[in-house]
Amino acid sequence: AEQLATNVTWHDHSVARADREKIKGQKGVVIWFTGLSACGKSTIANTVDHMLNQMGRHTYLLDGDNIRMGLNKNLKFSAEDRAENIRRIGEVAKLFADAGVITLTAFISPYKKDRDAVRALLKDGEFIEVYVDASLETCEKRDPKGLYKKARAGEIKGFTGIDDPYEAPEKPELVLDSNNKGIDALANEVVAYLKSKNLLG
Ligand code: PPS
Repeated sequence: AEQLATNVTWHDHSVARADREKIKGQKGVVIWFTGLSACGKSTIANTVDHMLNQMGRHTYLLDGDNIRMGLNKNLKFSAEDRAENIRRIGEVAKLFADAGVITLTAFISPYKKDRDAVRALLKDGEFIEVYVDASLETCEKRDPKGLYKKARAGEIKGFTGIDDPYEAPEKPELVLDSNNKGIDALANEVVAYLKSKNLLG
């Protein structure tokens, strides 16, 4: 059973979110990249982060391996641990968005219900789900860390796409065709989307 703290109350802050956003001249949002290992999500997210930073926007990138070395270093890759990984990242992303920061996340986040739970934490329009669509074949061909090879050889168990599921988003805000297009073109598509939603001030 879930352990909930007792005698805990929510405190409203005297500085409201709108006050923070006003100083920055931008809205806090979460740009949530999802896709198979080696689909390009982390590279695209890094490129978008760089582009927005160059435009003078205040951004922050929460990235798979880094978070798993710190905040989530006690988690592995069981369904339960992946759910907890995504839950914590969702809560952290929500705090960043509340601080008025354009927050990018790059995690496989393979399960639909875990991504939907993050969406539910945020207000309408604040969660931008970006499906980085690369086929298993494409990802396996790239295999930059040699992990697919290990998974095929049975040296890694429960690897996403091989013997663990990836549930593609049904209604993402954006789909990036990473089978056929390069990193810069795809990063530009994300920036164009943000502009079209008036999120870049
Ligand atoms: S998840 O499913 O969202 O909790 O995964 P994430 O935190 O994004 O971590 C994915 C990276 O961990 C490495 N790795 C694995 N991935 C998938 N399945 C298994 N079993 C696994 N074991 C280790 C892998 O390098 C992933 O990196 P990316 O950047 O996605 O290639």
